[in-house]
Amino acid sequence: MSKPAILVTRSIFPDVLERLGQYFDVETNPLDQMWSQDELVQRLQGKVGVFTTGVERITESLLDRCPDLRVCSNMTVGYNNFDLVAMTAAGVLGTNAPDVLTETTADFGFALLMATARRVTESEHYLRAGKWTRWSYDMFSGSEVHGSTLGIIGMGRIGQAIARRGAYGFGMKVVYHNRSRLAAATEMDCKAIYLEKDELLRTADHVMLVVPYSPASHHTIGAAELAIMKPTATLINIARGGIVDDAALAIALRQGQIASAGLDVYEGEPSVHPDLLSLSNVVLTPHIASATEPTRRAMAMLAVDNLIGYLVQDKPVTPLNPQVIQDRNTVWDPRALELSVGDNAQAQQRLRERFLSHVSSQISDLMAHGASGDLVSLADVAHRLKSAARTVGAMRLGEVSQSLEAACRQLDLPKAITLVEQVSAAFSDVLPYLRKT
Ligand code: DGY
Repeated sequence: MSKPAILVTRSIFPDVLERLGQYFDVETNPLDQMWSQDELVQRLQGKVGVFTTGVERITESLLDRCPDLRVCSNMTVGYNNFDLVAMTAAGVLGTNAPDVLTETTADFGFALLMATARRVTESEHYLRAGKWTRWSYDMFSGSEVHGSTLGIIGMGRIGQAIARRGAYGFGMKVVYHNRSRLAAATEMDCKAIYLEKDELLRTADHVMLVVPYSPASHHTIGAAELAIMKPTATLINIARGGIVDDAALAIALRQGQIASAGLDVYEGEPSVHPDLLSLSNVVLTPHIASATEPTRRAMAMLAVDNLIGYLVQDKPVTPLNPQVIQDRNTVWDPRALELSVGDNAQAQQRLRERFLSHVSSQISDLMAHGASGDLVSLADVAHRLKSAARTVGAMRLGEVSQSLEAACRQLDLPKAITLVEQVSAAFSDVLPYLRKT
């Protein structure tokens, strides 16, 4: 039996590829080229899974053009490269790699904090440039780390690991801000006190950003936030580019609104804002917070486990949109509607009506093409039907349309004819739900 085909988008550990090869037909990228979006789409044709590294953009338009794709497995914990709403609507599972990098990333957060507050890079450059001719009492005098106040924005697993390092290792007072307040026992374990964001920014000597990127967290730190921080404060970003307004940060650093910054991530990376490059009071590293060999290997292996888990065993380890799995046998899932248009009842109803009129005409097309054996047109109808069905939450119709589309693309006429009947039966199943207001 042939193995399912998958794509690995970047160069990765050989033993990781070897393990994938036991289960899949693997297309790799041995020269580690950066593929354009069109090239990625082209290479994804016929692939049911993709191993991604956190930067490949899985968008609605890509999903539309890659009808066979069933799972995208990021080897990173961050997944802002996934349009998860579109993936859920298309019935494509997303997975990420949490936990395995928590302590390593927290170590790096602290390394960057120490390097920034104690001016490690700046002083090293001075020494290497041959400028160190004598000791002086105020040479590269930095900010105190032990006993100071550490403010953490984003108190997930990594934020908590940083808090423990600060509280237990450096005797710091730890304050945090998070979308939701942690349970009292977790706060106690991390010795962390909840503050509103502005209060945290005014109070902290060092501000560490560990918040995941989303449109809601875009520019969590901009000019207004920088303006209320202490002039002696440091700002550390190990979260994602776009959490900080890098242009505003460069101005704040130049004008001395804050003392210094340590950045591992950037807006538009690998490009770095040119104004940051010319400043000496910023430590810049190339997105390496999780970069130790054992951790990167563990991240990659977890991504592999997720591909095998979903495509072979039907049990991914760390799914991001598990509703895709649950939805397989569901006739109707209102969560898909909510994902598309929120819980606005009127918008949901409009979407259902549009779907109903769109699908009714497609069903008759389907019958016509099915009878005439025009499999290419039938596949196109099935594809549109699948996307529309997923968007409104008509899960069974979406699932059967997907099988129909796959059958047509493999030119399997007998299977396609059976599936056409199943599609129209599934359509009648969902009608009662669609007509409900
Ligand atoms: C992650 O896992 O999201 C990291 O940023 C990748 O190094």
